Amino acid sequence: MLPQDVILRKRNGDSLSPEEIAFFIGKLARDELSEGQIGAFAMAVWFSGMSRAETVALTLAMRDSGDVLSWPDVGRPVADKHSTGGVGDNVSLMLAPIAAACGLAVPMISGRGLGHTGGTLDKLESIPGYRIMPDEALFRKTVAETGCAIIGQTAALAPADKRLYAVRDVTATVDSVPLITASILSKKLAAGLGSLVLDVKVGNGSFMQSREEAETLARSLVEVANGAGVKTSALLTDMSEPLADAAGNGVEIRNCLAFLRGEKKGTRLERVVLAFAADMLIASGLVCSLEEGSQKAEAVLAGGQAAEHFARMVHFLGGPSDFLERPDAHLAKAPFVIPVKAQQSGYLSGVETRALGMAVIELGGGRVRPEDVIDHRTGFSDIKPLGSFVEKGEPIAMLHAAAEGLGQQVADKVSGLYRISQEKPEEQPVILGRI
Ligand code: URA
Repeated sequence: MLPQDVILRKRNGDSLSPEEIAFFIGKLARDELSEGQIGAFAMAVWFSGMSRAETVALTLAMRDSGDVLSWPDVGRPVADKHSTGGVGDNVSLMLAPIAAACGLAVPMISGRGLGHTGGTLDKLESIPGYRIMPDEALFRKTVAETGCAIIGQTAALAPADKRLYAVRDVTATVDSVPLITASILSKKLAAGLGSLVLDVKVGNGSFMQSREEAETLARSLVEVANGAGVKTSALLTDMSEPLADAAGNGVEIRNCLAFLRGEKKGTRLERVVLAFAADMLIASGLVCSLEEGSQKAEAVLAGGQAAEHFARMVHFLGGPSDFLERPDAHLAKAPFVIPVKAQQSGYLSGVETRALGMAVIELGGGRVRPEDVIDHRTGFSDIKPLGSFVEKGEPIAMLHAAAEGLGQQVADKVSGLYRISQEKPEEQPVILGRI
């Protein structure tokens, strides 16, 4: 078999066998393919698509291109969550310690910001000393001792995905459902999970803008993950405004601490976090109903155990031992905090969420080029939810900037991203569906 035979068959719209897929991905992982061959394969898949069986084979081949972890001694069900990404989406930061406090082991492999969306790893790097790339021994020890560890994809986990993703990024082949499915799941499955929950975002701050596109991706992810032997379900959740009332890196870590202290009750963020906690607990067999799962999650939040698990994870992975008690001693603050003022009085009825995410990047809170260094201090806090009434000139959010001129310029632009109406808009649900 030659790589070009596999590319030709996919180009012609044939179905590839698991052996052909494993052959091609094996060569990719061993660096035996040219960039041209990888790009041609990705483009052939983009045009011809893949059946579920082919996507399962691609996912498994990519998972098996590196280490596949197992957790024989951890003594708890192993579970994780993945989000397709959004703005102010810091669910993972709270969900991992809540799930751990409820009795799960959560070895979470997270990513960096992509496009306009924030990345969990970038947020965690706001915490001085936090090691997003620990060695395997420390990763295992942290999961065993604290129940959770949120880290990055090491070179040993699904290396074929790393190589393929880099080529897809520059060959206009990112937005292919089978390629996205195999990319996301190969990394997650390499972490040795028993179950997985997926947060597939819908709306103008997500990659999938229409509900139909989001459902297609969710179905593909759920069917392929179950086909690969991991019990998986998905929730479609709204991303037509920032989920948390903060967007950025350090500001979202502060928001996470406030959430763990019980200061974000009754918010859309809380609804999403509790829904995923309940799904994780039910999939792992630790509770019998979603209601019981949600109550259990609320109890560990109210009792402070979730906060304790977060603090222990941070300390095990190199962060300060008193992070929970003294966050201000460790999280740097931007020198300029500037209000984003409402342009008129009325109800906030819409926001260009993607552009808000891009504004975080403009402030230095994300990357324009892969090698860019992030300013973790910047972003937005105190973002008012849609439906809020504002007087003209009242702050819709507070902008955190390293330089006053740029900050004021971005604040003026962001105030124009909000639609303000005289009628109170109907409240939209945050959980849109379940797959
Ligand atoms: N995130 C991934 O990890 N892979 C994709 O292909 C898209 C989003």
